[in-house]
Amino acid sequence: MRTEDASAAPAPVRLADYRPPAWLIESVRLTFDLRPRGTRVTARLALRRNPDGDGGPLRLDGRNLRLVAASVDGAPVSPETDAEGLTLSGTASGAALPDAFVWEAVTEIDPEDNKALEGLYLSRGMFCTQCEAQGFRKITFFPDRPDVMAMYEVRIEADAGSCPALLSNGDLIESGALPKGRHYAVWRDPHPKPCYLFALVAGDLRETRADFTTVEGRQVRLGVWVRPGDEGRTAYAMDSLIRSMRWDERAYGRAYDLDVFNIVAVDDFNMGAMENKGLNIFNAKYVLASPETATDADYARIESIVAHEYFHNWTGNRITCRDWFQLCLKEGLTVFRDQQFTADERSAPVKRIEDVVTLRARQFREDGGPLAHPVRPEEYIEINNFYTATIYEKGAEVIGMLHTLFGPEGYRKALDLYFERHDGQACAIEDFRRCFEDATGRDLTQFARWWSQAGTPEVGVEESWQEDGGRYALIFRQSTPPTPGQPDKAPLVIPVALGLLGANGDDLLPEGTRIVELTEAETAVTFEGLPARPVPSLLRGFSAPVRLIRETSDAERAFLMAHDSDAFNRWEAGRAYAVDVALRMAGGADADPAFLDALDALASDESLDPAFRALALETPGEDELARETFARGTPADPQALHAARDALRRAAAGRMGDALERLHREMTVPGPYSPDAAAAGRRALRNRALGLLVARGAPDDLARAAGQFERADNMSDAFPALAALVHADAPQAAAALAAFHDRWRDDPVVMDKWFAVQATAPADDALGRVRALTEHPLFDWLNPNRFRSLVGAFAAGNPSAFHAADGAGYAFLADWLIRLDAKNPQTTARMAGAFETWGIYDAGRQRLIRDQLERIAAAPGLSRDTGEMVSRMLG
Ligand code: PHE
Ligand code: ZN
Repeated sequence: MRTEDASAAPAPVRLADYRPPAWLIESVRLTFDLRPRGTRVTARLALRRNPDGDGGPLRLDGRNLRLVAASVDGAPVSPETDAEGLTLSGTASGAALPDAFVWEAVTEIDPEDNKALEGLYLSRGMFCTQCEAQGFRKITFFPDRPDVMAMYEVRIEADAGSCPALLSNGDLIESGALPKGRHYAVWRDPHPKPCYLFALVAGDLRETRADFTTVEGRQVRLGVWVRPGDEGRTAYAMDSLIRSMRWDERAYGRAYDLDVFNIVAVDDFNMGAMENKGLNIFNAKYVLASPETATDADYARIESIVAHEYFHNWTGNRITCRDWFQLCLKEGLTVFRDQQFTADERSAPVKRIEDVVTLRARQFREDGGPLAHPVRPEEYIEINNFYTATIYEKGAEVIGMLHTLFGPEGYRKALDLYFERHDGQACAIEDFRRCFEDATGRDLTQFARWWSQAGTPEVGVEESWQEDGGRYALIFRQSTPPTPGQPDKAPLVIPVALGLLGANGDDLLPEGTRIVELTEAETAVTFEGLPARPVPSLLRGFSAPVRLIRETSDAERAFLMAHDSDAFNRWEAGRAYAVDVALRMAGGADADPAFLDALDALASDESLDPAFRALALETPGEDELARETFARGTPADPQALHAARDALRRAAAGRMGDALERLHREMTVPGPYSPDAAAAGRRALRNRALGLLVARGAPDDLARAAGQFERADNMSDAFPALAALVHADAPQAAAALAAFHDRWRDDPVVMDKWFAVQATAPADDALGRVRALTEHPLFDWLNPNRFRSLVGAFAAGNPSAFHAADGAGYAFLADWLIRLDAKNPQTTARMAGAFETWGIYDAGRQRLIRDQLERIAAAPGLSRDTGEMVSRMLG
């Protein structure tokens, strides 16, 4: 028997239709006889009817499985299979199913042919699995839903020569040799888990080992497993893991709960990493780092992803999701936790600024377009399409607002209650919310709209000032624009952290920063007895994920840039000013000298953290400028914005040349490379200066970059220099690219940078160059990292070329999406989001994009993943 992919028009799954499972599983025993083709999986499930279920027949999910044999309590049965699974209504003799029985099934699959990278697949000769969200059903027939939790015992048999390492969840309990050069290992996980947390790895892997003793006294063996040759690049992942484990003990009172914790690096992976119980599987680019191969930004990302996956052990694994609509329960919370970790380990204001930059670039973009959806969606066609910036990043902002509203103590009390009350359960957002209500005594009915209402709220602010009595008032008006399926919006609870600055820049409020809560469409806040009209500093620390709309002046922005005691708002004032100046330049104005003065003052202020100054010197991106243009009422012109942004950078470099040269000379870091935050901050500032100098473009400037590239002994110095040369189309670029290629051709993680830096270069013939790179022997389009580093980087990181007026960029992306969709729907569907901003462009581009979306929609055999994305974008 063989089941095929469904091709009928898919029906949405609805939150409102949730029903408890009809059957529960006591225990799972899996045996894998691993082979590239014809892997045999034997699954033995001890099933029990759920007293709270609907009493229906046994329904098991299964996709692309060959069912070899099945039995109930040892007696063979032949269940009815279909494209999505099988149904068993009775025993072989026709009797009704008993209330408890043992189901056993033997199925066959072909890991080698699995290019979707979901279920069991081969990555460079290594067997590995990816089960979240619904990959387990591609391994065996199973109730593939997170509220069915069970204990697993897993036996793996494989060729001993090609697969010396055999790993699964939990603890190793047995291993040994088998005939014909094969061997086996048996793993047991004592913690009940949903099947999406199952994992298996078998391959030629080398382990880096460390020991960790938890606060509770448990001895844990930590392992980071990589391909032979990569052992020298595991130290930072291991160090990050150890610091994460300590931090979770300290900050949340959460200790690790098994004797083994393993991390495995794989080359072919759709996402960043996966929190499988005791066996985290990572995209190799988020594990491997050495000074020569990884930039400071790579190190920081490794640290935060290792922490994120580790933190899932409590927020995701011990307490999991009832159904996939609750995805933000584990993701929003875990992102918030990894953000806190990075803020503690590095710099809190710098981390906050970086997170807000990402939030706006990805989540505000999503929330403002056709793919907008609530943090907790109410329906989906393909759950893989909902691993979004809204679920993750806005989901984290919602947790952050609870932290702001209740303070660190109230927050900790609520989280303690959550862990105590729900350990071992599959929960919904309501369970989490109730812990806050019970711990703090506050009703969160209105606050909960943050989970159900999509769209980025807009908060307008007006002021009034009365000399007499020193009365100052702020009037806030909130509204949320309509989003697909949600025409009308209700007021939210918006915590606004604010300060008032006096003429010399001092904080006028005794507490410095005050939190006011907006709960109505209009809220007025008044202050009395002020000595003079203050300058307000609003939404300090970006205390809510909203768009603040307020008439302000250049002078006030410059004042806040110079004086705000809130580091975030100091940066924010400069960012907003930069956006204004760039948009005025796109409209024909010259670079505003007052802005350049203010920027120069900030960049040269030695009392400020270099990492902060580096962020202040970042030029707003073209996509941000495009969306801001549209928000102000005109369609975005990508080429004009590109030119304006370039001109602004040139003007800044012209005005600040001396300071930039000094920064580039002085912000060096003595001694051997270290990825610590202080050293990384100095390099970030130095490289920001270099980038601007190269934008100025004098021969000396280019030579400076070329010299840095040649002399660099680490990637953090080498790569920004290479990028500056390539993006400026400097005469030295070709030689630098060739040298980089020759040194790193055999290293996939590093070569992704080589592809990406070219894909994002805004040359006149950018698309031609990208097309040529698709013919490069190292362009392996079935590897998601490589595909993203070229096709994805072009679509997301080269706006002036991607949005070329003739539509060639759009057609190029659509061609590749159609091609990849047949192999890897998940990565294709994500990348289709490059089209989500179609509505902000002129009618001509809108039509060109819609033509391509329609062409994709009409592609024969289009996946459910991409089909859903395209139809939502077409509206
Ligand atoms: N759950 C993973 C994380 O957030 C992400 C992921 C989703 C990975 C789906 C693979 C597949 O850490
Ligand atoms: Zn996660």
